[in-house]
Amino acid sequence: MTGAAQAAPALELCGVELRGPVLNGSGTFDAIAARRAFGDALLEQFPFHAFVSKTITVEPRQGNPPPRLWETPAGMINSIGLPNKGLEGFLASDLPELAELPVPLVVSVMGFSRDELAVLVERVGERDEVAMIELNVSCPNVESGLVMGADPAETARAVERVRPLTERPLIVKLTPGAPDPAAVAAAAEGAGADSASLINTLKGMALHPRTRRPWLGGVTGGASGPAVRAVALEQVHAVAGRVSIPVIGMGGIASGRDALDFLAAGAGAVAVGTENFRDPAAGRRVAAELGALTPPAATESRR
Ligand SMILES: Cc1cc2nc3c(=O)[nH]c(=O)nc-3n(C[C@H](O)[C@H](O)[C@H](O)COP(=O)(O)O)c2cc1C
Repeated sequence: MTGAAQAAPALELCGVELRGPVLNGSGTFDAIAARRAFGDALLEQFPFHAFVSKTITVEPRQGNPPPRLWETPAGMINSIGLPNKGLEGFLASDLPELAELPVPLVVSVMGFSRDELAVLVERVGERDEVAMIELNVSCPNVESGLVMGADPAETARAVERVRPLTERPLIVKLTPGAPDPAAVAAAAEGAGADSASLINTLKGMALHPRTRRPWLGGVTGGASGPAVRAVALEQVHAVAGRVSIPVIGMGGIASGRDALDFLAAGAGAVAVGTENFRDPAAGRRVAAELGALTPPAATESRR
């Protein structure tokens, strides 16, 4: 049978039908490379119920200098630096390939100003292949110097700017570095966001074992994986308690039990990130484990 991971109950997220609650974290599963490696078997056994693209920017980016990854005792630190083909490259070459996936497509975008964000949302939102747009607001706004997602007012201004430009559901991806992520989520909801996803990576650093100089080419990076799960669970609980839009919970999810914890903490859906690097079929496994564990009430439609 062609399609995404079965077993977990279906749900509706921001008006989009999903066959289950397991997404991927942006940037943690390269569906285009996986399709090349596994062929149509990937489509038949697709690991997620919706696919989130890696974050794209208006201009192409090379990303950070290597090394870009450091393995921690329970996860990793990455300083990938958002390499991508830019908006035009994405629309011309990646989007047609991602549109062949058997699940709804979420495109993640990041702008270094509200104007850039507006261009991304408008251009991506006019494409029928795109089911939802995720706003990655973990970057400094060059207009204000503030990290968009660290400040409720700054986040609200960004969402207000792009909200009229598309009818697609807008997911705001929160940064765990914000002093009060629940306040940021509430501001995003007030400005018209349809969902909040969290957590993005936590700022981290590793030193070269011999030189004691920073290991990562980007000096610092983002920590993820099981090490951040407790932080993520607390933030998901706080955000879900504050907003009425659905919350997509992630951060260290590696099993159905972990996913169930996030749903019980108030998430309406979950995403698997770092675990995909260890096990490319992790999404499917998490969905199957969750399906076996889930009391029906824990995954009922959030909206
Ligand atoms: C290698 C790597 C690349 C990532 N790239 C992105 C990205 O492009 N955009 C984004 O919003 N988050 C990105 N993330 C963050 C993940 O989507 C996720 O929010 C975070 O890693 C926490 O989940 P996890 O612990 O399950 O990995 C990346 C994470 C990793 C490990």
